[in-house]
Amino acid sequence: MALKEVSVFAPATVANVGCGFDVLGFAVSHPGDMVVVRRVADKGICISDIRGDRERLPREVEKNTAGIAIAELMNKIETEDGLEIEIHKKMPLGSGLGSSAASAVAGVVAANILFEEPLSQTELLQCALKAEESITSNGHADNIAASLYGGFVLVRSYDPLDIVQLPTPVHLHCTILHPHIEIHTGEARRLLPKKILLEDATAQWGNLAGFISGLYQDDYDLIGKSIEDRIAEPVRTPLIPGFSAIKQAAMDSGALGSSISGSGPSIFALSDDPLTAGEIGRAMQRAARDADLDSTVYVSKVNEDGPRVIKRH
Ligand code: HSE
Repeated sequence: MALKEVSVFAPATVANVGCGFDVLGFAVSHPGDMVVVRRVADKGICISDIRGDRERLPREVEKNTAGIAIAELMNKIETEDGLEIEIHKKMPLGSGLGSSAASAVAGVVAANILFEEPLSQTELLQCALKAEESITSNGHADNIAASLYGGFVLVRSYDPLDIVQLPTPVHLHCTILHPHIEIHTGEARRLLPKKILLEDATAQWGNLAGFISGLYQDDYDLIGKSIEDRIAEPVRTPLIPGFSAIKQAAMDSGALGSSISGSGPSIFALSDDPLTAGEIGRAMQRAARDADLDSTVYVSKVNEDGPRVIKRH
């Protein structure tokens, strides 16, 4: 019998990871977003409810990332069936944790299950990327791919889109400090240099290759020392009060490495055991308080599973 309703949770993500601007990302266990899709009699798509966004997200399908991504899916499979979407935002907006990507991914995965899985993961990625492209002038796939595939992902190429899934060392933990300020990705992208020095490019690709080698070799020190960003972090640091002190607090508490998550303001730190990850979170939060910032800390392992079906019937 055809399914009537599917609910899917898709995880938040850390994009860039210091050394991989626009090409590297990983998923965390929490926070994330849940999207419910339900068959209804009226043709077309409507967003019936959005919870947890304090009325800030657009209710129009063509302006909402989950709506755009699901509309793209329905277009690809050429159906005009009626679908109602409910979005449960369980993570902060404008946080650098891939909030719009998590909604788009949860939406397309739920709709794909509802329609008996007609699309491949690559096609779902294209649907969600279309949503990301329509809300930022320049669509980047690092958040979406990490949320959809889980674990660490490399966007090896944008044209054609080519995603490489990377291994996750078993002891790797992530601490995220989310300062309670907002940064718009578009604004953070406008700060980026159009050209970079050859010596910065050389350092960046050395670190990216080092980081990925570290993942394959379970080499936590190599992973840590490769988290260095010569491109985005220097120009985005001024957007985050206390950034340098918060990062230093993480490093002093045993972090392998730390940098801005996506376009910020969240700051991530990697470590190789859960107790250190917790201690790093407390130290980062103290440093944030010293900079007059309220914050939330999330500690989790890298989420290798990606989206999770919450309910289907
Ligand atoms: N790679 C993107 C950026 C991620 O840094 O602009 C945005 O969250």
